[in-house]
Amino acid sequence: MMDEKALNLLFREARSHNGFLEKPVDTAMLMALYELLKMGPTSANCSPLRIIFLRTQEAKARLLPALSPGNVDKALSAPVVAVLAHDIHFYRRAAQLFPHRPEMYDSFAADAQLAETTAFRNGTLQGAYLMMAARSLGLDCGPMSGFDEAMVNQLFFPHGDVRVNFLCNLGYGDASKVFSRLPRLAFSDACSIQ
Ligand SMILES: Cc1cc2nc3c(=O)[nH]c(=O)nc-3n(C[C@H](O)[C@H](O)[C@H](O)COP(=O)(O)O)c2cc1C
Repeated sequence: MMDEKALNLLFREARSHNGFLEKPVDTAMLMALYELLKMGPTSANCSPLRIIFLRTQEAKARLLPALSPGNVDKALSAPVVAVLAHDIHFYRRAAQLFPHRPEMYDSFAADAQLAETTAFRNGTLQGAYLMMAARSLGLDCGPMSGFDEAMVNQLFFPHGDVRVNFLCNLGYGDASKVFSRLPRLAFSDACSIQ
């Protein structure tokens, strides 16, 4: 089991960040982040997450018109904005991802709704793995769903096979900009044991 320090880093003391320090995040860090998050489980190993890391001012500027007003300054201050999306045609990689039984992916090819649901479910999970991996590497996250989905898809995924899920600012958080911690549900409110 992890020690208390690690649990605090990943969960108890980790916060959603609204502003970031002027400390860059290099390519090696983004690659290390991916190497961790890719190991999180997905159904039939489908691995639908696709990420665009926006790091240059020009790349981030393309995104700004699609953001809710309250998210603009947050994204501007972040050294990296990750656009987290999922490939609804993930099943085309059956030979690579499920080589021992590639026919397992035939049901996705035959049912677009099933493929979309599977891509969204597992892409969302992989987005959560990204946040936990980032925290484990000492990065802070600022997830954002306040944006115009159609505009982001048009801007970054014009071919239609990849669809945005949410955005995540990445960097080293400015603790002075964090909001007060909100209450969480108690075990008895959220869980039952049957
Ligand atoms: C998927 C997702 C989308 C979010 N979207 C936004 C957003 O658009 N703007 C924002 O300021 N915060 C956003 N948040 C941050 C949440 O409000 C924040 O994680 C929550 O209040 C818990 O805060 P804490 O992690 O500091 O305890 C989002 C969080 C998640 C996980």
